[in-house]
Amino acid sequence: MYYHIKTYGCAMNVHESEKIAGQLEKLGYSETAEVEKADIVVFNTCTIRENAVHKAYGNIGKLKTYRQENKKVIIAVGGCMTQDKEQAEDLKKKLPFIDIIFGTHNLTEFGEMVKEYNNSHKKVFEVWDSEKDMPKENEVTRNSFPNALVNIMYGCNNYCTYCIVPYVRGRERSRPQAEIVEEVKNLLAEGYREITLLGQNVNSYGNDFENSESNFVNLMETLAVLPYKYRLRFMTSHPKDFKEELAIVVGKYDNIPKYIHLPIQSGSNNILEKMNRKYTREDYLKTVEIIKKHIPNYALSSDLMVGFPQETEEDFNETMSLAEEIRYSSAFTFIYSVRHGTVAADMEGHIDEETKSKRIQKLVALQNKISKEISDEYIGGIYEILVEEKKEGAMCGKTDNGRLVKFPTENYDLLGKFVKVKIISSTISGLKGEFVEISK
Ligand code: 5AD
Ligand code: SF4
Repeated sequence: MYYHIKTYGCAMNVHESEKIAGQLEKLGYSETAEVEKADIVVFNTCTIRENAVHKAYGNIGKLKTYRQENKKVIIAVGGCMTQDKEQAEDLKKKLPFIDIIFGTHNLTEFGEMVKEYNNSHKKVFEVWDSEKDMPKENEVTRNSFPNALVNIMYGCNNYCTYCIVPYVRGRERSRPQAEIVEEVKNLLAEGYREITLLGQNVNSYGNDFENSESNFVNLMETLAVLPYKYRLRFMTSHPKDFKEELAIVVGKYDNIPKYIHLPIQSGSNNILEKMNRKYTREDYLKTVEIIKKHIPNYALSSDLMVGFPQETEEDFNETMSLAEEIRYSSAFTFIYSVRHGTVAADMEGHIDEETKSKRIQKLVALQNKISKEISDEYIGGIYEILVEEKKEGAMCGKTDNGRLVKFPTENYDLLGKFVKVKIISSTISGLKGEFVEISK
């Protein structure tokens, strides 16, 4: 019996697909890369922007005939899109051949739902309004060696006015520190060499503990001193909660890459206020100064959004000038997408598609130019890479501060090792190099 999982969205979803895979393997299924071979096809969906929803509908829809011709095949859909009850109802109506629907809160019950379906052959639709408790940590089947994703918390309390995440992921809940440390220790002992701690806002880790000293900074310190050469990454930091103590810890430990993802969204104070981000452009720039002070050779990345309701040409130009002033090492750029049920959806002054499209093109062109200039600065230098992926005749990995590097080699044993690579050429987001030696 085979399973095939199609994942949409962020690293949180990627990791949750590993949890879905873990449950299916426990039931005796093995992975297949070919949909046509699968006995169960799972779509782990995203609803952050409308286009993620469209993609999922398109791809699930393609399976209609396959499902009709293969009565034994199970089609399951879960994740953020189906956690939203209205969207789940719409999906059922439009694609009635789906057999199992689950949400984010009952993801760890998925194995049980598959068992129920196999016993009854009746559709199993179940989406919980909230989690009964902390999510059970269950079997995880990882397939991203030497990288491992580790949840440190779930949910988000911030209610940025454009964002649907708090509605489909619930309130913030932190995992006990001892449990996280145990998981990381085990992963390092197994040979994993890049651990990425996941939370919507890692800086508020531990805020929900009643009597505990645990916070994100001491969690990072506890993990950074584990006796392995490895990379300890984290995602994502909300600028309003980024503390100087964290910059100090990032600067202090070799195991923590000098890379910070600090999404600003907009360079305009007007828009930041309407977004309910709770910081100003000036506050953000002060945080960047703190990062510079404690982390020499830092790389900073961001999320930038255009076309938020009421965004004027002036507001947009402030985002452009901010991108120029900061010179992000890389940035994810988004067009604002209306999410039903959020505060911004009901605001006046939505921006027309043509204006949004012009703005994103300008912003992308600017960021591409900056990213290429920054990539060019690497040429001629020797950098340490963690080898993370095998490509035909080449290996790929990242520098400490997150730049992708590809170098030709037939030596696939380098996977999971730290190596030195001399950079010889660059593109906007990547570098090409030559193998120098394995790191000591
Ligand atoms: N429209 C466009 N982009 C969004 N993001 C979140 N919600 C929306 C939306 N409604 C972006 C933000 C966030 C990133 C994960 O996705 O930039 O930081
Ligand atoms: Fe969404 Fe804001 Fe929470 Fe990030 S911090 S998940 S953008 S509500």
